[in-house]
Amino acid sequence: MTTTPIGKGVESALEEIRDGIPQGRFPARVFNDSEIFAIEQERLFGKAWCFLAHESEVPNAGDYVTRYIANNNLIVARDEHGEIHASLNMCRHRGNMLCKSEMGNASHFRCSYHGWVYKNSGELIGVPYLKEGYEGRLRRRDWGLLKVRTESYAGLVFGTIDPEAPSLDEYLGGFQFYLDLYLKQGRSGSEVHGPPDHWVTETDWKIAAENFSGDGYHTPVAHQFGFNLGYFASSGATHSQGWAASIPGRGHGIGLGHTPGFPPFAGFPEELTAEMRQSLTAEQIEVFSRTRTAVGTLFPNLSFLMQPFSVVPGETGVRFVTMRLYHPIGPGRTEMYSWCLVPRDASEEYKREAYRAYTLAFAQAGTFEQDDLENWARVTRSAGSTMVRDVDFPYIMGMDSSPDPEFPGPGHVVKPYVNDSNFRNLWSRWSDYMTGRV
Ligand code: FES
Ligand SMILES: [Fe+2]
Repeated sequence: MTTTPIGKGVESALEEIRDGIPQGRFPARVFNDSEIFAIEQERLFGKAWCFLAHESEVPNAGDYVTRYIANNNLIVARDEHGEIHASLNMCRHRGNMLCKSEMGNASHFRCSYHGWVYKNSGELIGVPYLKEGYEGRLRRRDWGLLKVRTESYAGLVFGTIDPEAPSLDEYLGGFQFYLDLYLKQGRSGSEVHGPPDHWVTETDWKIAAENFSGDGYHTPVAHQFGFNLGYFASSGATHSQGWAASIPGRGHGIGLGHTPGFPPFAGFPEELTAEMRQSLTAEQIEVFSRTRTAVGTLFPNLSFLMQPFSVVPGETGVRFVTMRLYHPIGPGRTEMYSWCLVPRDASEEYKREAYRAYTLAFAQAGTFEQDDLENWARVTRSAGSTMVRDVDFPYIMGMDSSPDPEFPGPGHVVKPYVNDSNFRNLWSRWSDYMTGRV
């Protein structure tokens, strides 16, 4: 039996981890461990629906971005008919990487090794010396790029490398209700404001995913400066208001911060709130109009945050939305992608202001981002140290919270927002994948 750094056979250690979650225990070591990382690549990222791109990143025929599922580099491209394809960025001849840019526009990709040529939809259309060299033995239609199954929701394109995976709709399992807060601000939905900020950090992806699935606990401490300087139309105490909502059995979770007396839809452009009132359901309007901050993770590693922000103390400011992907590249090492999403129908001025607020707060140089990254990198380092081998963390906050019967949204919804309920759900789903139950 293999021995893990957790000190037990890996399969029994994973079962034990799974059993501990309903009791509010989860081991530190999970957040920085090479064996856990390797198993995640196969059993989690090899089976889940993983975020690839927002449709607005590839608006025109030929537009492409390159992204990852686990360690597989993919070309996500819009073909001449407007359809989006995700193909493995690997030439079928000898495996050379085909496309070396992170984004661009191309109808074809030509391999730099022996010159095979593929359409952006993945078909092989050009082979040097086809007749003379292969003498009729190579049929181009058999050697197209390897394809990944894709599906979309409200502009988000996901891919899975598991042919048996359920539909994206089933995978989301009702979380769409909450995603609409970020993705359906106005009738035409959201779009990215420029390319993502993209950097590598010494942080385990799971720490970031957990934080964004609704860690209202850290906000008044880690981001204290924001309260001190009056950047929030709120005080730290108001974070004990609001709800923690999660989708049981799916892993998705969102924290909905609520400030009593905060005007409905404050910070949104007025013309859009009128549209939102028409395009959203009555239940969504009830929840969203009262929500000041919303921070959520779509399992496993795509997160969102929306909040009003102003550099003028006391002013509500504009709402910005950040969408972020935590792509694991090693134990305790993550490639971060951070986008600013804006309502497509908003004025250019509103989009600019929202982007400014986003850049000051999040993205690579954002003040909040710095607060978080510094803490997360230290957590990662601790989690990889030898004394921590068998140490559990407490996930016992809100163990007895019962669902709020008044809340109109789906899932398991408890009060207040500061609660470990979403994290127990997140890690329980993670352990379903890790123990091979999915
Ligand atoms: S590896 Fe691409 S053509 Fe040979
Ligand atoms: Fe934070």
